[in-house]
Amino acid sequence: QSEPAGVTATAAPVDAERKRAQQGQYVTTAQGARLTDTDHSLKAGRRGPTLLQDHHFREKITHFDHERIPERVVHARGAAAHGVFRANGAASTITRAQFLQKGVETPVFVRFSTVLGSRGSADAVRDTRGFATKFYTEEGTYDLVGNNIPVFFIQDAIKFPDVVHAAKPHPDREIPQAQSAHDTFWDFVTLHTEAAAHTMWNMSDRGIPRSFRMMEGFGVHTFRLINADGGTSLVKFHWKPRLGVHSVVWEEAQLINGFDPDYHRRDLADAIESGAYPEWDLGVQVFPDNPEQTFEGIDLLDPTKIVPEELAPVQVIGTMVLNANPTNFFAETEQVAFHPGHLVPGIDVTDDPLLQGRLFSYLDTQITRLGGPNFAQIPINRTHAPVNDMLRDGFHQHAVHTGVAPYKPNSLDAGCPFAAGVEEGAFIDFPVELPPAQKERAASRTFDDHFSQVRLFYISLSEVEKAHVAEAYTFELGKCYEQAIKERGLQELANIDPDLCATVAAGLGLPVPEPTIPLSDPTPSPALSQIGSTWPVD
Ligand code: HEM
Repeated sequence: QSEPAGVTATAAPVDAERKRAQQGQYVTTAQGARLTDTDHSLKAGRRGPTLLQDHHFREKITHFDHERIPERVVHARGAAAHGVFRANGAASTITRAQFLQKGVETPVFVRFSTVLGSRGSADAVRDTRGFATKFYTEEGTYDLVGNNIPVFFIQDAIKFPDVVHAAKPHPDREIPQAQSAHDTFWDFVTLHTEAAAHTMWNMSDRGIPRSFRMMEGFGVHTFRLINADGGTSLVKFHWKPRLGVHSVVWEEAQLINGFDPDYHRRDLADAIESGAYPEWDLGVQVFPDNPEQTFEGIDLLDPTKIVPEELAPVQVIGTMVLNANPTNFFAETEQVAFHPGHLVPGIDVTDDPLLQGRLFSYLDTQITRLGGPNFAQIPINRTHAPVNDMLRDGFHQHAVHTGVAPYKPNSLDAGCPFAAGVEEGAFIDFPVELPPAQKERAASRTFDDHFSQVRLFYISLSEVEKAHVAEAYTFELGKCYEQAIKERGLQELANIDPDLCATVAAGLGLPVPEPTIPLSDPTPSPALSQIGSTWPVD
């Protein structure tokens, strides 16, 4: 089988490093001195104590002692693959991004993950899945760091430590490993009703996907695209799997986790190895960039809301195929560093307060996780665009910079090839006009409706899917010890759907509460419920 298009370029830095790391036919020290024996330490006599002099022993053991790095604070367990993205040109009127112009092929690296489990946890748990894509474009690296669920638990990034603390294992007993069945998680999501939408998606079949290859991906936030004429639009990104969206049922998930905790990573790797390359269409929902940043009354800056596809259809702008497995899990899957702030000309962020916080968090955490500020030089993180940054020194610096210290303006480095002030081809922060405002710690009032879209989602499900949702809430809430949390969970369901609430209340043996808000009566939205369906492909 010939090398798939686009993969060679991505794998090239990794292969070059591999060749550098494993040369010749002899075992050597890290300094390249040939060894004859790596099985015995140097001792004072065959039965004597080991000598401090034994550099080879100390180097081997010391390096082993430091083999592990911290796992990601969230999304610790993941699996990844290389591939290529091919743009169909449909986005060329709305963005100047080079990799989205017709026919352009861009190497990609995608990491799928669960959110809450540790590196060694099981795959088929009820949880959100990460779907992070690194596009190695000629204009710099673009990262689309999304999830398989289109909404998020919180509307403001300052609550991220709270939701993660509430959902991760208890500090005393380190149980449980999955997002389920404990009081702190349900305490948080029932006290923060903005979490109702994400929680419902988790309790639906979307929370237990059958395969990474059969998941949708969502950028979640609204982004701003800028075209060649400076015109802007607001968009939401969607990945649509060519294999359709499929889940397992709860009992299957339990069996899978018992028989094969590595089910999802095995499935991805096996599929690619056998040539059954998974494919996704990348699509956008496009909205006019109006000053309110709303569409049909939906606040586009609220990450707990979707825009139903009937109101704004997803338009396909390209297709991604994953066609090569990583060569080395640690070098690539573990060390890859995504960041929602890795942008290219033509794609910009919005003021969504969750996205704004993410723009700080990823670089910050990766400085600890990857041992200092130079992890962009790790082969999997290297951009394919030319680099001429002004960053110097620091732990694990691999570059050998020449010339005077970097500062601008600078009259001494006339030979320096880059000039400030050249806009052609540069990333320019889009000059968004801000309305007069005062500083305050408060949410936008347009973020207040926490229930009508959750009801919309529930009503759009098939009867079988609804039954699964009721069973999931009954099982998970039933595992809480605190009666008050169960009751608050039921109160939330009463505000979403009376039938669902009654079914779960019966399962828990608790009375059915009255809704505290008027129930909305949304039109069922078939596009929301796509389990078992396939995206229309050309
Ligand atoms: C990691 C998605 C919200 C902080 C990740 C990863 C994904 C992701 C896919 C895994 C990346 C990988 O495979 O390496 C999302 C989405 C969010 C969201 C879709 C909301 C829409 C947040 C927020 C914060 C945050 C609000 C903090 C304010 C982190 C951190 C990591 C992470 C610290 C670990 C990164 C690393 O160690 O490399 N997120 N996230 N995320 N996320 Fe988020």
